[in-house]
Amino acid sequence: MAEHTIDTALGIDSLPKHVAVIMDGNGRWAKAKGKPRVFGHKAGVEAVRKTVSAANRLGIQVVTLFAFSSENWRRPADEVSLLMELFMTVLSREVKRLHKNNIRLRIIGDTGRFSERLQKKIADAQALTADNTGLVLNVAANYGGQWDILQAAKQLVQQAAEQGLTESDVTEEMLASGLSTAGLPDVDLLIRTSGECRISNFMLWQAAYAELYFTEQHWPDFDEDSFAEAVAWFVNRERRFGCTGEQIQALMSG
Ligand code: IPE
Ligand code: IPE
Ligand code: MG
Repeated sequence: MAEHTIDTALGIDSLPKHVAVIMDGNGRWAKAKGKPRVFGHKAGVEAVRKTVSAANRLGIQVVTLFAFSSENWRRPADEVSLLMELFMTVLSREVKRLHKNNIRLRIIGDTGRFSERLQKKIADAQALTADNTGLVLNVAANYGGQWDILQAAKQLVQQAAEQGLTESDVTEEMLASGLSTAGLPDVDLLIRTSGECRISNFMLWQAAYAELYFTEQHWPDFDEDSFAEAVAWFVNRERRFGCTGEQIQALMSG
């Protein structure tokens, strides 16, 4: 048995509840093969399928995939439009399979900037899977962590005006309830492929205590084994949340 295989005796509590992934390196992967960048994006779809399948089998509650950042509009127009087309195709093609696997699909981000056609597809896909009770799959599209916090803050201001709230009434929970991930656990494990060690404006609030896992592998090469390795790395770390290891040990034995 491979050494990273998850021991079933380990217990679901040791696993991350929420895994977020910055799927990076499609362009470099393609370039290394002498192919155009779009070839890498297309190949990346297979890695998404493998990751979702692995997470689903592990019984992980939430997976959030960074598909398109609010900064990615700055890319060449033809690459942006290809990414949109790919998004459309994948949504149409994969949603039935997700539904069959009891997966609840949610697109998070400022989707208002997408074409009417794409927005309709997104709404349909979300509606179809809305009552599913298995894995929650968030696909972050035109997403930015600062945007997420800003729109939560705006909701809070509106709520304050309507309900006459004052500064001292405002809590962290109230702000978090306006985020795109409201009601979901915070990110426990954040994976970024392709060697860059930055967050790129992803899940800024939600990843406050996340373990950060960076791998040199380019996204199209990422597979079930890569995912299992990342999860095993997470499980083997002692999570402190700002308290001491002794306190955790006391909790465990108590
Ligand atoms: C990630 O791969 C996919 C998207 C951002 C859509 P990149 O396109 O960023 O690939 P690199 O980083 O240029 O290799
Ligand atoms: C982050 O990757 C966004 C996605 C994976 C969708 P980028 O490749 O766009 O990030 P930067 O520009 O290198 O920070
Ligand atoms: Mg990149």
